Amino acid sequence: MKVIHDGREMDIRALWYQNESIRFIDQKILPHRFGYLDALSVEDVAMFIEDMTVRGAPSIGAAGAYGMALAEITGMNLEHAAQRLKRTRPTAFDLFFAVDRMLAAANEGQDLIDAADSYVDEIAEKCRLIGEQGNAIIPEGARILTHCNAGALATIDYGTALAPIRAAHNAGKKIHVFVDETRPRLQGAALTSWELVQEGIPHDVIPDNAAGHLMQRGEIDLCIVGADRISASGDFANKIGTYEKAVCAKESNIPFYTAAPVSTFDFSLTDGFDIPIEERDQDEVRYVGSELVCPEEASARNPAFDMTPAKFLTGIITEAGIFKPGELDQEKLQ
Ligand code: MRU
Repeated sequence: MKVIHDGREMDIRALWYQNESIRFIDQKILPHRFGYLDALSVEDVAMFIEDMTVRGAPSIGAAGAYGMALAEITGMNLEHAAQRLKRTRPTAFDLFFAVDRMLAAANEGQDLIDAADSYVDEIAEKCRLIGEQGNAIIPEGARILTHCNAGALATIDYGTALAPIRAAHNAGKKIHVFVDETRPRLQGAALTSWELVQEGIPHDVIPDNAAGHLMQRGEIDLCIVGADRISASGDFANKIGTYEKAVCAKESNIPFYTAAPVSTFDFSLTDGFDIPIEERDQDEVRYVGSELVCPEEASARNPAFDMTPAKFLTGIITEAGIFKPGELDQEKLQ
């Protein structure tokens, strides 16, 4: 991804392996500061996933893969490392997919740094292909709504929902992106907007509760969001608020797509209600930054994801093509 920092343009990923450690862009401090944090152990990686230094389904998967490589380097029992990493966040399937891939690689006697590097390269390439596939459904002049951050930060590189948007922009299409701010952690306002600024892609950040209004007034032509876990039926979990946007889009006859690589598909599930939904600390809702925004006595609920039934989807953009939810081809997604 293109990052302009201190007047210097860099082409970097959300995380990478170097000198027996994993370097992460610290996603907690964006957009006003830019910096890195290094993980030297499995515990560091697990804590960075939990505190959202790294977030977004494919990037969490990449962190899990490199975490397993660190387990090998530091001599930690691989099963224990896998259990610790899998306990961090429950919803994104990529984490489980990646960690199991590393366990299988270890059983085959592969070097886990090489295995993690090739896993991460493979997922980044799939995201690039999602961009190529998804560019086809973006018309010239399209006004596109996206939710949360499904950009390069969330996916190692390119993005899932943002990959087609990047590809359309790079192809010279005049597009405009509406970015839901994405309460409570503001991944849209802080991270998606930051990525779009780096690329010079025109956009407006909107309050989460403005999307229905803009759809009803004909100001949005299509919606593209990411996914944290997609069932075999096409029901999918994504950042809290996605379901509401999909319902509004259907009401206004606006095409609604999710975009994800194979690592996000959990073909063992047919019913989206079986996807585990993470519930986070209520203070993420009670506070905005350091400011308490409700009475001290108020309690809050903080479900981090919701489930959008497949019937609200126009299509699923993958590296292998765009599928209608009822026509998912597992064979092609390998
Ligand atoms: O809680 P987060 O920030 O990890 O949630 C991220 C999302 O919901 C993204 O939309 C999803 O991971 C898809 S990113 C490719």
